[in-house]
Amino acid sequence: MVKIPLEQPLFDRVDGVAFFERLVDRFYAAVVVDPYLGPLYPADDIDGARERLTLFLVQYWGGPTTYGDTRGHPRLRMRHAGFEIGEAEREAWFRHMAISVGVAFEAGEISEDDEARMLSYFAMAAAHMVNVAETD
Ligand code: HEM
Repeated sequence: MVKIPLEQPLFDRVDGVAFFERLVDRFYAAVVVDPYLGPLYPADDIDGARERLTLFLVQYWGGPTTYGDTRGHPRLRMRHAGFEIGEAEREAWFRHMAISVGVAFEAGEISEDDEARMLSYFAMAAAHMVNVAETD
């Protein structure tokens, strides 16, 4: 039988959950003071929001499935339906995440290929979350 080699997940190339904690910590530090995004996030549960995104990304990139075990199927578009996400929100979300990914690359935590993989995933996923047309 021919064995098809499975690609090693990105999770195995970084220092595990800690990498995603740092990535999401930097991201949320920018989100909470962002004029478009800050008001959308639960001010009294930023730690919870940080943990949900961290665990989701850990699972997405091939780490433990704690997110799914506790939150169920991601259904991300549906979970975002209660927030008005237009072009300004998409652009701000992606910009803060891209900067955080860039910091990880500059620090030597991820390769150029993995940086590109992450950026292309986040660009696609953020566009997928848009649920209102521009009004201006
Ligand atoms: C496009 C702009 C986006 C905006 C404005 C946005 C906003 C939000 C807000 C306000 C929440 C609630 C915070 C909480 O209590 O957890 C949330 C949750 C979440 N977001 Fe986003 N988001 C965006 C894009 C994305 C993208 C691209 C991803 C994934 C790559 C993502 C993943 C998540 C996850 C995993 C949760 C927690 C879901 C749960 O289990 O309840 N978001 N988002």
